[in-house]
Amino acid sequence: MSAPLTRIDAQMQPADDALANKVVLVTGATGTLGRLAALACARAGATVVLHGKRSHLLDHVYDEVEAAGGRAPANVVLDLAHANDAEFKGLAETIHATFRRLDGIVHAANHCKQLMPMTLQTASMWDAYWQVNVRAPLQITRACWPMLKRANGARVVFTSESHAAHPQAYWGAYASSKAALEHAVATWRDECAIDDPTLCLYVPGPIASNSRGVTHPGELATEVRDPSTIAKDFVLLLAGDRRLFPLNDHEPSALRFAPPPA
Ligand SMILES: NC(=O)c1ccc[n+]([C@@H]2O[C@H](COP(=O)([O-])OP(=O)(O)OC[C@H]3O[C@@H](n4cnc5c(N)ncnc54)[C@H](OP(=O)(O)O)[C@@H]3O)[C@@H](O)[C@H]2O)c1
Repeated sequence: MSAPLTRIDAQMQPADDALANKVVLVTGATGTLGRLAALACARAGATVVLHGKRSHLLDHVYDEVEAAGGRAPANVVLDLAHANDAEFKGLAETIHATFRRLDGIVHAANHCKQLMPMTLQTASMWDAYWQVNVRAPLQITRACWPMLKRANGARVVFTSESHAAHPQAYWGAYASSKAALEHAVATWRDECAIDDPTLCLYVPGPIASNSRGVTHPGELATEVRDPSTIAKDFVLLLAGDRRLFPLNDHEPSALRFAPPPA
């Protein structure tokens, strides 16, 4: 059973310099939430490492960060569907060689294809969900763990999906991958010492995005939340805002976060 959701008040805003002097990796930075999270982190003072699968799309986000006045970012290209241990390690080494530190990660990369009955979901379809949505965020975090530990107060935000906790027809491999991710993150948290990086999950709920367009074709963007309104939640989580973590970062109740119901 999933841990309860802590709702992040829509009015709760981070300080302008909440992430000053921090280095933050954002995976899937060319996607809807990844791009917005990267821009929000840069605006809050972070140097962002932008990860994506396609270099030319990353270049656009790089330019946007610079145009918004953010510190010069770095781009990292890696196809998570095929990445191996050496490549996960290489990603961490690139960050270390460039910035010597890493204070946080937003895992926004996401594999999401058309929903369909379980009888149609092939082994290779399941593999892709597992590689990108489960294996990659865990292995990237693992590869970066020594840097995150050294950062003292580092935070990792994994993105999940409400169907992980509420199975529903046609969401088979996708929702199962998110349920597996949530289980693994909860397990990892259980292994963490008080001075280890804080791991948490963020469940955005329905937002106008590429993934939503795949799972809900035909839905108008105006029918769901504007994703730009929740980008600040990633800054609040990465900054360890005391309104969200009032007592102890490792309280089980602080595992899963979400915006208020739409
Ligand atoms: N949208 C919603 O309504 C909603 C609801 C609940 C939860 N969420 C969660 O929010 C998170 C972000 O969702 P989103 O809608 O912002 O996603 P999105 O717009 O579809 O973006 C996904 C990102 O992941 C990248 N990606 C996909 N496959 C990859 C691969 N093999 N290797 C490297 N990168 C890869 C994409 O790059 P390319 O563009 O190059 O493929 C893109 O940058 C997900 O975890 C999702 O489950 C979303």
